[in-house]
Amino acid sequence: MNVNIQQLAVHMGGTPVLEKLDLDVVDGEFLVLLGPSGCGKSTLLHAIAGLIDVEAGAVHIGGRDVTWADPKDRAIGMVFQSYALYPTMNVERNMSFGLRVAGTPKAEITQRVARAAKMLQLEALLARKPAQLSGGQRQRVAIGRALVREAQVFLFDEPLSNLDAKLRTELRRELKALHRELGATMIYVTHDQVEAMTLATRVAVMRGGRIQQVGTPGEVYARPANMFVAGFLGSPSMNFIDGEVSAGGAEPGLQAILGIRPEHLALHAAGGGRPEAEITLVEAMGAHEVVWLDLQGHRLAAIAPAAGTHQIGDRVGVQMDLDRASVFDPVSQERIDLRAGAFRHRTR
Ligand SMILES: Nc1ncnc2c1ncn2[C@@H]1O[C@H](COP(=O)(O)OP(=O)(O)O)[C@@H](O)[C@H]1O
Ligand SMILES: [Mg+2]
Repeated sequence: MNVNIQQLAVHMGGTPVLEKLDLDVVDGEFLVLLGPSGCGKSTLLHAIAGLIDVEAGAVHIGGRDVTWADPKDRAIGMVFQSYALYPTMNVERNMSFGLRVAGTPKAEITQRVARAAKMLQLEALLARKPAQLSGGQRQRVAIGRALVREAQVFLFDEPLSNLDAKLRTELRRELKALHRELGATMIYVTHDQVEAMTLATRVAVMRGGRIQQVGTPGEVYARPANMFVAGFLGSPSMNFIDGEVSAGGAEPGLQAILGIRPEHLALHAAGGGRPEAEITLVEAMGAHEVVWLDLQGHRLAAIAPAAGTHQIGDRVGVQMDLDRASVFDPVSQERIDLRAGAFRHRTR
């Protein structure tokens, strides 16, 4: 089912948290809401789920106006960061609780729980209590609870952030596989850019209650709509260099900020006619190294193969792949659709 949000406004404790927010989630997609802590991601998810009242605007799920519908009438399943399992019930009863309350026939409950348990590899654990499960298994049970309700739209609020790094990667892969298998619409909240890039069919980047850009992970990474999106995605962050872009001929250049990712800088021996920089720090990352540079007062990060040849204090020639750079307006910080071909950085 698609989820359509129009001009949504939500106030919390009298202050606006979301304002005039529009978002179209396409049937069957995995949409990730990505943004820093406090930007309103959970609030938006709660508004879709019907857990909070909205000030203005509308929420449609599957074409139906559910702005004022009860959470249980929205065909949604929600999975939170905390698992919220009943400690005294075993896995089977935790998963089936909602169905039993709703009076679903016993045979159907058994069948649905068996199917969900198989998908989530919980079959061997059905008799266990939550205390006898690992964090990853508990989160699978929480997902199972949403699965057995045969939700059409799944809402996830940072479901992996309580897990250690290895489990997080594992469960991330399983979630992606589950999405493929179910074909259901998923809306997933996270502040973790790696989760967003790996899980999403599309990412909506949020800041201060507003959606900054919606696009495929590739689009938002390669063509960020503004400097916030550009800086939020990628590690180390995109380099920003102020200077000017010449409009061609003898005309004065246009003040601009060049945004170039660390992997789009290549380092060469000094003296080849390229802009020269001094290496200020080298961070070994295993597969590659991050080389920090001072280019005439501009601090830049470059990603280089882990050859171990770069030393602090060395001078290098810097080659920028300007075809893959972005150009931003220094005042509005918005992307300008200009070719970076003739960029000149400011000398400091
Ligand atoms: N119950 C509340 N009362 C007042 N302000 C709230 C309440 N809940 C959230 N907020 C505020 O709303 C903003 C968005 O919160 P939230 O949606 O939880 O952000 P996120 O999930 O992106 O971290 C924050 O500034 C937060 O302080
Ligand atoms: Mg939150």
